[in-house]
Amino acid sequence: MVRHCPAARPRVKGVVLAGPSADEGTLKNPTHQYVLAAAIMGLGCSESAPPPTTAAGGSSPGGAGNGGAISSGGNSAPGGGMTSGGSGESGGAPGTGGNSGVGGFLSSAGTAGTTVSGGAAGTGGVSNGGASGAGRGQTGGAAGAGGSSVLGATPPMGWNSWNAYGCNGLNETVVKNMADAFVTTGMKDAGYEYVNLDDCWMDGRDSNGKLKWSASKFPSGIPALAAYIHGKGLKIGIYETPNTKTCAGIYGGYAPGVGSVGHETSDAQTFASWGIDYLKYDKCQGQLSAFAVMRDALKATGRPIFYSINPGDQGPFCTPTNCSLNLPTIANLWRIGFDISANWSEVIRLIDANKNQYSGAGPGHWNDPDMLEVGNGLNDTEGRAHFSMWAIMAAPLITGNDLTKMSAATKATLTNAEVIAVDQDPLGQQGRVVGTPGANLEVWSKVMSGTNKRAVALFNRGSTTSSIAVQFSQLGLPAGAASVRDLWAAKGLGLATGSYTATNVPSHSVVLLEIVSAP
Ligand code: GAL
Repeated sequence: MVRHCPAARPRVKGVVLAGPSADEGTLKNPTHQYVLAAAIMGLGCSESAPPPTTAAGGSSPGGAGNGGAISSGGNSAPGGGMTSGGSGESGGAPGTGGNSGVGGFLSSAGTAGTTVSGGAAGTGGVSNGGASGAGRGQTGGAAGAGGSSVLGATPPMGWNSWNAYGCNGLNETVVKNMADAFVTTGMKDAGYEYVNLDDCWMDGRDSNGKLKWSASKFPSGIPALAAYIHGKGLKIGIYETPNTKTCAGIYGGYAPGVGSVGHETSDAQTFASWGIDYLKYDKCQGQLSAFAVMRDALKATGRPIFYSINPGDQGPFCTPTNCSLNLPTIANLWRIGFDISANWSEVIRLIDANKNQYSGAGPGHWNDPDMLEVGNGLNDTEGRAHFSMWAIMAAPLITGNDLTKMSAATKATLTNAEVIAVDQDPLGQQGRVVGTPGANLEVWSKVMSGTNKRAVALFNRGSTTSSIAVQFSQLGLPAGAASVRDLWAAKGLGLATGSYTATNVPSHSVVLLEIVSAP
């Protein structure tokens, strides 16, 4: 039974529009973080009985077969958005793609309710049904191993301006420098692609009602910035709200921050004409019903624009287990908690808010525990733990640090290929807690594509060094030996039978393993 949240609780206005100041107070960057009353820091509204075993996308004809279905193929949800065919753990049987109904935003697979067949899954492949010819009734499913036509088939990877630059720190030079850094630091090669402008890029509307960018912050204009970013093989994101003001407009008095409510069609077209690839749409006291309006407006542009929403604002948060919206049919990504900040208790708060939301996650539609704070004040051990947990939760990897000034350790964390591969696994399962072997100790497991393969996080949330054991029965693996690999150490640890114990796991750290049953 879902426990509904109490009515909206107060939020303390705290945004200050100046650049970073020396007076850091209790938050690392109080100049651009909203300060939340301590009383609402624990969201406390996402607990519920175990979520349904199929995603909100409905029943799951997609992807039967060895390794089981992901539930994105459903045909019973309103609009039935997903067209992902089955993605069996070992390739599985061909899945039947979802019924891509009217509301079927996410896959771009057609507006006409065309049933698409998922096609044969290659080994480990996500057989995404439905080519992106909207409404033409094309048969998808030829994707085979790893191929995909689903927008956001794996969680998005990129950078966003808010955590490091807030409102007044955002400008064209910062964004171009960041795009350059994607290339020079190896972030692009590691898979990061979206360079995202958050709030405070705009300057109201012109006399025709068209959105204007701030000419002082973006003298060359957003289209030129988009071209610059595209020229590097990257994509660009932007920010808006379903209200008359943006959040900085509401909470910080940023007058040029105008919202999109009532302007959805023209604003979506404006974004498409500028070359925008990603929209973060932040509730900011708007109406929940407005998220579908912008979804449809984006879809009508014909440009694939990844749709990231924050349907929570002041709370209660709208999550897969507690929302009137069927989130996977609305957006590619939805926030599940209040804004992160760069300290350990905040990382823990968002992990706890996200841990029971796994039913909503899958190719094209993900839970968002917020942007990364790696490199923004967490120590290196905590940064690796934060990154490990976002990876095992199939969370977006949207960095929030200054990429031009990363330490070697931060860069090594953010670009670790084996850890990123956990996040980006095409099966698209969100990991979940399978054991709590002690106070502040958790074992998380994420089913990976392939046969009998798991990513496993041995998570020491507490303040003392501890040993943590995983029993292979907790992972649903067959009895017998399994190979164990330490992903951060990039080292095989040999075969183990029945269980594996990591000794001396430091406080605030994660041992991230890949465990595969021996054939
Ligand atoms: C908040 C949002 C932040 C940031 C900010 C901008 O509502 O959670 O991530 O976008 O607004 O004003």
